[in-house]
Amino acid sequence: MAQHTKLDLHEQINSGCQKCPRLDRRENTEDGLCTMTLSVQDGALVRCVGKWAQRKIHFLTQYLGIFASGIKVGWEGHIHYIELCSGPGRCIARDTGTEMDGSPLAVLGHQTFPYLETATFLDYNPAVVQSLNARIAALGCAEKARAVEADFNDTAGLKAVLTSRAARGLALVFIDPTDCSLPFASVASIAAALQKADFIINVATRTDANRNLKPAILNGDSKARAKYIRFLGGDAFFNDSAVIRLAEQGQDTALRNHFREAYRDALRGIGYGYFAQESILNYYDLLFASRHPTGLKFWKKAQQITPDNERTFDFFTDGTAG
Ligand SMILES: C[S@@+](CC[C@H](N)C(=O)[O-])C[C@H]1O[C@@H](n2cnc3c(N)ncnc32)[C@H](O)[C@@H]1O
Repeated sequence: MAQHTKLDLHEQINSGCQKCPRLDRRENTEDGLCTMTLSVQDGALVRCVGKWAQRKIHFLTQYLGIFASGIKVGWEGHIHYIELCSGPGRCIARDTGTEMDGSPLAVLGHQTFPYLETATFLDYNPAVVQSLNARIAALGCAEKARAVEADFNDTAGLKAVLTSRAARGLALVFIDPTDCSLPFASVASIAAALQKADFIINVATRTDANRNLKPAILNGDSKARAKYIRFLGGDAFFNDSAVIRLAEQGQDTALRNHFREAYRDALRGIGYGYFAQESILNYYDLLFASRHPTGLKFWKKAQQITPDNERTFDFFTDGTAG
């Protein structure tokens, strides 16, 4: 039975938050970081987020709990956590002005963190990396945790960092971009650098793809099409007559499901065959991928408790999308 410990994200009201409406938000953030206020906890950067952020962290930490505690013996302690697109570690919910831990700090504070050999956080923004490293140091975790500047377009760079930090053992890789810009080649490069890895990937099916996929299919020259081809690691999706027909007919739900399946096909191409998916409200999908049935079994066990702390026994999807 999965265990549930209430997430303590160290919430605090940040009175500097302007609770920006959509238009002001663009002016009051830079690369997703609030430019109006800093953390009331430590004076470092905070990322402006929506109300769904906690839900994502719930699914991540529920799996981490089972992953790190259930598996550690078999891997002689060589258990690693890797997060690509880590952010600075603290967020601020724009609807309430509540500041809270983001996924990196939720992992560092998790009861199973002591079981990890290393935790590596990657982000391309130097200010983000600096803030997160300051937080890691303040928590006394610098011996095994580190934030590193890395661009997800730099496949060789990602591979070099991960080979030096986590080549041996079992890794949990969380990839958390805001859209579909992350090339599939980078996912493949991360998998190649690690001995064995499970992935949790934030796939922006419900925002980015929902808005831009149809025009990208119907307009062969679009920049968006090139982005999705990079994202999926090939153009088979765009040459599929069923996909073109669905776009022409405006069948958005079926189109999104084909897109999800195309992403799974890319993962199948690098040996991943076991998937589950959780929806984060209407914003994005969290896709879990493993090479082994045990990974999927653990995921299902971990997610028997929903973010609302209710037990559930049949809400998992496995191959089909919600
Ligand atoms: C959704 S936020 C991460 C939030 C964080 N995982 C959390 O839950 O607290 C996305 C992050 O991706 C980073 N990012 C954007 N483009 C990137 C790129 N090309 N390479 C690496 N990181 C990138 C941004 O700097 C931002 O911090």
